[in-house]
Amino acid sequence: MHKSEKIWLTLSFGMIMGFMILTGYQAFALGMGTPSGQTTLDPQKVDQTAPFDKPGVTQIGENEYEVVMTLQIFSFTPNKLEFPAGSTVHFKLTSKDVVHGFEVAGTNLNAMVMPGYVQEITQKFDKPGDYLVLCNEYCGAGHQLMSTTITVK
Ligand code: CUA
Repeated sequence: MHKSEKIWLTLSFGMIMGFMILTGYQAFALGMGTPSGQTTLDPQKVDQTAPFDKPGVTQIGENEYEVVMTLQIFSFTPNKLEFPAGSTVHFKLTSKDVVHGFEVAGTNLNAMVMPGYVQEITQKFDKPGDYLVLCNEYCGAGHQLMSTTITVK
């Protein structure tokens, strides 16, 4: 093998190892893994599992709300949410059947909601208006009907 070939092989192998060690260190030692999908539950028993046995909106602070929501074919529970402008809303989402999406048009909110996992995502709603909430994962024959609104006033 040519000498320069050996140098490049060593260099590229070293880079791969370096990146793997760096990524592993960040993920495990620094805890920089994905922020959600780490809480699991039995998708067959969503109705019996807290907090999803009581889906709804709770005010947890001044201008701060928690929404516990289940997604199922082809609806969101609760739906037609309403918050005062300037609210920070913490969503806890799970699916009771298949993979759904939770996209709020006009915001950065866009999450995949999978059965068996709790998706947690926070959004501040500053601008008043009606925000369209859509399921953006194909989930069956009524997928295109799966929508609701968040009203901010
Ligand atoms: Cu739920 Cu598409």
